[in-house]
Amino acid sequence: MRRSLAILTVLTSGALTAGAVAVLAPGANAATTLGAAAAEKGRYFGTAVAAYKLSDPVYSGILDREFTSVTPENEMKWDATEPTQGTFTFTSADTIVNRAIANGQKVRGHALAWHSQQPGWAQNLSGTALRNAMVNHVTRVATHYRGKIDSWDVVNEAFADGSTGARRDSNLQRTGNDWIEVAFRAARAADPAAKLCYNDYNTDGQNAKSNAVYAMVSDFKARGVPIDCVGFQSHFNAQSPLPSDYQANLQRFADLGLDVQITELDIEGSGTTQANTYAAATRACLAVTRCNGITVWGIRDTDSWRASGTPLLFDGNGNPKAAYTAVLNTLGGTTTSPSPSQSSASPSPSVSQPPGTRSCAATVAINAWTGGFVATVKVTAGATALTGWTAAVTLPSGSAVTNTWNATASGSTATVSFTNVGYNGPVPAAGTTEFGFQGTGPAPSTTATCTAR
Ligand code: G3I
Repeated sequence: MRRSLAILTVLTSGALTAGAVAVLAPGANAATTLGAAAAEKGRYFGTAVAAYKLSDPVYSGILDREFTSVTPENEMKWDATEPTQGTFTFTSADTIVNRAIANGQKVRGHALAWHSQQPGWAQNLSGTALRNAMVNHVTRVATHYRGKIDSWDVVNEAFADGSTGARRDSNLQRTGNDWIEVAFRAARAADPAAKLCYNDYNTDGQNAKSNAVYAMVSDFKARGVPIDCVGFQSHFNAQSPLPSDYQANLQRFADLGLDVQITELDIEGSGTTQANTYAAATRACLAVTRCNGITVWGIRDTDSWRASGTPLLFDGNGNPKAAYTAVLNTLGGTTTSPSPSQSSASPSPSVSQPPGTRSCAATVAINAWTGGFVATVKVTAGATALTGWTAAVTLPSGSAVTNTWNATASGSTATVSFTNVGYNGPVPAAGTTEFGFQGTGPAPSTTATCTAR
């Protein structure tokens, strides 16, 4: 595969040489939900679900419309499923699982063995008694759900934060370093069809913690310990931003010969910044062939474990946010009608703009290979904030745009115009926003023009 990278910035300027191109009509037959759009990319789009919220029609309505996978948020944890040693309670988890299966949704099981959310009796065990209790728990729960689970988080959060690369100290860890592989072998024996995942946070970029997980997974693969996937929780905020090497990190795990999944995505913030970060995380998964799907950790902001950070795709009233549209567009889908958040952010074509005050530049980065390319375009506002923008890119004869994210493509000749979608039209003075498109045929020109509104 040949790859080339070229970057060129062009301020508003004249048109370039024409060549014949074909552009798929924007929105034609495009999926209109997260789940349908992800499915067209061969992936699921899931959410964490709380059993007690299923009677809320707004909640369950969004769940059934948008999501193709569910993860019980708390109902499968050790304290929930085995509150008394040897006595198992599956009622709440069964409600979620059976409902999901009836609706054709996949189920991610979460979590069989974890240092947290242990019932009191387990917290008080140690040594062989705890090891045996852990194996029995994994076996009983995985057996109960045999055949119903797409992927299990077999072991959750077993590594320490920081630079040591060490295992997290816990009662489970103190039963012996082999407790993780023992849990995986028990899970495989109980449910041979489920994908078995290791799941953790702060492992989303390359760092000491993810390096330690990488070493463990490499060792498991080398020794034949059953493991099929690694889950990257992806809880992002200002203190823990989306790492710049997120995609590369997902890819290096995939290159070990297993699947990767984004398992608990949430991104604190609001507006364009939050939307752009969600789009970037989504793009990373789409760019990694073995990234099976994305799960967001809740539906509405008010459902989140950190609700004050408004980290999810729907607001407290169940309305889709800019972040929702960004994810949907990145997946190749489109909204059927403007959402409330979009319409408030969209520029109105009938509003006259003060002439000459707004300007923008478009920076094009091309990643090309024989027969195809991906273009990433950065739009930068001049000294005055934008209400909208259009970037025009010239394609050579034989090129075709097949997919656009975070912009709407139009034009059937050589110059293809990409106009902002609702949430990324407004760009602050000197601020930036990005969109991209994918195509077949020869790589396009690295020149672009930007028209400001
Ligand atoms: O159900 C009880 C309720 O009866 C009681 O009145 C109330 C008082 O605190 O607690 C309720 O249970 C809480 C439960 O969430 C349901 O809301 C627990 O205290 C609380 O600890 C629990 O928090 C969960 C947390 O994991 C700890 O298990 C969050 O909902 C859940 O989102 C969070 O999820 C974790 C993943 O499992 C692993 N990765 C990190 C992620 C976020 O922390």
